[in-house]
Amino acid sequence: MTSKRNILVTGGAGFIGSHLVERLLAEDKWRVTVVDDFNDFYAPALKRANVAPHVGRDDYELVEADIRDRVAMERVFAATARFDCVVHLAARAGVRPSLVEPFLYAETNITGTLNLLECARQRHVPQFVFGSSSSVYGINAKVPFSEDDPIRQTISPYAATKAAGEMLCHTYAHLHDLRCVALRFFTVYGARQRPDLAIHKFAKLISRGQPIPVFGDGTTRRDYTYVEDIIAGVRAAIDYTASDYEAINLGESRTVELRELIALLERELGRKAVIDRQPMQPGDVPQTFADISKARRLLGYDPQTQIEEGVRRFVAWFNTQGMKDEG
Ligand SMILES: NC(=O)c1ccc[n+]([C@@H]2O[C@H](COP(=O)([O-])OP(=O)(O)OC[C@H]3O[C@@H](n4cnc5c(N)ncnc54)[C@H](O)[C@@H]3O)[C@@H](O)[C@H]2O)c1
Repeated sequence: MTSKRNILVTGGAGFIGSHLVERLLAEDKWRVTVVDDFNDFYAPALKRANVAPHVGRDDYELVEADIRDRVAMERVFAATARFDCVVHLAARAGVRPSLVEPFLYAETNITGTLNLLECARQRHVPQFVFGSSSSVYGINAKVPFSEDDPIRQTISPYAATKAAGEMLCHTYAHLHDLRCVALRFFTVYGARQRPDLAIHKFAKLISRGQPIPVFGDGTTRRDYTYVEDIIAGVRAAIDYTASDYEAINLGESRTVELRELIALLERELGRKAVIDRQPMQPGDVPQTFADISKARRLLGYDPQTQIEEGVRRFVAWFNTQGMKDEG
């Protein structure tokens, strides 16, 4: 029997993290450690349900801890011979709440990231994959967004913390023997999507016949990325070795207007949406659109699921959930 490689997935109980863990365990060549604090940004019961299938496996360990707690993180790293890779996905996500709680976002997304980079350095971890965000592009007017574009136009504390996280990754990659790949995810959706995100939130409201809040005139545009495509990109980044540091977009490279998205949801749910029009929200960017040529070149990334098919699959999952997820 060949020995398994050790990997730490922070935020492994969350939406994207739980999909990654599932993929890694299916490969049967990893010992996966998950760190998650099960905070109540959305219903912790949903996160418990995400980890439940794996608890008790001998190639899976769940550590309930807060990445802001440096001593707790040092303990996690000390308990494993050496992680071959850290995939750091734990974060306060969500743009609008970051305007209300900027310190919580900074402590989690900046100090928390620094804690993990520092542990990785001390323990000679060779590879660090960081879950960054398209929001670092802020109000960049040039589309599609390219990794060569400057990221000095952030317009929410969340986005600023992700840009800071990338800079810490670059710094550690430069100073130490720690390869870092910062992946800029563009609005991710699919089964188990966070309940605060538009597709999930709208599906719930439309299916109950309740009004959906639409901020602006419905012409804001997002590059929606199906979670399986994101996981393929993350997986490739775990194996990436060609340079010490890269920031790489992971999107679908197609931009969809909010009103188009609502029409797709209406079609799949078989119900008309009741629109509650609201002003644009501070912190929300008008558009996201990924140039994915770098991901194609460096990671062999090749997204497969277009929004029409992705929404169909999302709604199929959503319809199996009943009203149990009240998050
Ligand atoms: N979902 C998206 O569309 C999207 C887009 C861009 C970037 N991202 C980034 O991808 C990552 C995963 O996002 P997600 O949508 O799966 O969110 P999520 O909230 O479902 O997952 C994040 C997980 O991190 C955990 N966590 C948060 N703070 C923690 C702390 N202090 N200590 C330990 N664990 C903590 C949470 O409990 C949660 O399980 C995040 O870094 C997010 O910023 C997501």
